[in-house]
Amino acid sequence: MFSLILYEPEIPPNTGNIIRLCANTGVQLHLVEPLGFELDEPRLKRAGLDYREFASVATYESLDVCLAALAKPRVFAMSTRAGTRYDAPEFRRGDAFLFGPETRGLPQTVLESVPPEQRLRLPMKENSRSLNLSNAAAVLVYEAWRQLGFDGGN
Ligand SMILES: C[S@@+](CC[C@H](N)C(=O)[O-])C[C@H]1O[C@@H](n2cnc3c(N)ncnc32)[C@H](O)[C@@H]1O
Repeated sequence: MFSLILYEPEIPPNTGNIIRLCANTGVQLHLVEPLGFELDEPRLKRAGLDYREFASVATYESLDVCLAALAKPRVFAMSTRAGTRYDAPEFRRGDAFLFGPETRGLPQTVLESVPPEQRLRLPMKENSRSLNLSNAAAVLVYEAWRQLGFDGGN
């Protein structure tokens, strides 16, 4: 349905939470290397993930390789530096949601490779830094799935 791309994720429990999020919502998860951890890392396993959830995770040596494998989807890049509110677009099946690493966010060049209307921001109170990566992912995935009437969910 949707794809969620983590660009160079650094912190195992965040990716663990997102693996669980994707398994529960039917979203395909893609990880762009380098990762800040091994996929068999105990802190990921401790998130209580089972084999089926791990099996659906794909990794790629670069973002270009990832996007080519997905047949160049419409990409929405999530950033605190974006100007479009996350619930403004009309999401479609096949859309890909790109998130940045925990300590750095998406590189400016990656952000600017996406049209401004596809650079999305979650509102925050003034002087806030950012949301946790897995929380930001959950908010966007549920908004996109809501727009599809939670198709396939119950
Ligand atoms: C912990 S944040 C990165 C913080 C980084 N220092 C920055 O300012 O971009 C990790 C990722 O979560 C997503 N994120 C967190 N808060 C967000 C927000 N308010 N709007 C959009 N994306 C957000 C972005 O994809 C971000 O790259």
